[in-house]
Amino acid sequence: MIENLYKIPNHVAIIMDGNGRWAKRRGLERVYGHREGVKAVERAIKFARNVGIKYLTLFAFSTENWQRPQEEVNAIMSLLVEYINEKMPMLLENDIKLIFMGRKEGLWDNVLKAMEKGEKETAHCKSMTVVITLNYSGRAEIVDTVNRIIKSGVKQINEESFRNFLYNPDIPDPDLLIRTSGEKRISNFLLWQLAYTELYFTQTLWPDFDEEEFLKALYDYQSRERRFGKVLDE
Ligand code: IPE
Ligand code: IPE
Ligand code: MG
Repeated sequence: MIENLYKIPNHVAIIMDGNGRWAKRRGLERVYGHREGVKAVERAIKFARNVGIKYLTLFAFSTENWQRPQEEVNAIMSLLVEYINEKMPMLLENDIKLIFMGRKEGLWDNVLKAMEKGEKETAHCKSMTVVITLNYSGRAEIVDTVNRIIKSGVKQINEESFRNFLYNPDIPDPDLLIRTSGEKRISNFLLWQLAYTELYFTQTLWPDFDEEEFLKALYDYQSRERRFGKVLDE
């Protein structure tokens, strides 16, 4: 299946969107879309690992998503805890490190516990890093970053030193951002980190996002010419 694949992005970030619509189209409650979306998460992780992507960041829950019906929020959080616990052997088997990114305040104790356990048990893994952004928003991260800088007493910063105060300064910026479900917006995702990221949008709803869809995004990415503001030699 995978032919002529080169220029593998080091870091792929995904806005996993369209779970609710996937369910609605089948006359089901939105929650079923999230359940199905979890399967797509596992497919994406395994695929990324197989093709040699080093960092995979997945937008799981934004700070704005708290405004959804309580029942849906509860379902997403429960799924998350279930998933972390269930998938630990798969992550360890594949030497995948798990990291969470976002505000810890407001998260339930059982969620925090599962997150801690997941991070601790996979801390030694080296082949790939999966970053789950949870209770995350790009503006919140920038505000938190500025507050940390103020607290540290640093009086002047530049782009590099600013980066050191971000949630995860060691993770390189994404090379490719994929958003499913046809929406063409960033929805407050990694605002600082996406400055020069290549953007890829697909109509496919997240629960339908499979290896073939991921591959299409990678083929599209390899045709891009990244200039970073420079003129490339003819
Ligand atoms: C993305 O799917 C998952 C989360 C935001 C948690 P949505 O739930 O946003 O699905 P749509 O966009 O309503 O179809
Ligand atoms: C972005 O999707 C957040 C996640 C995928 C977790 P949303 O569905 O919340 O974004 P909007 O509301 O369409 O911008
Ligand atoms: Mg959505």
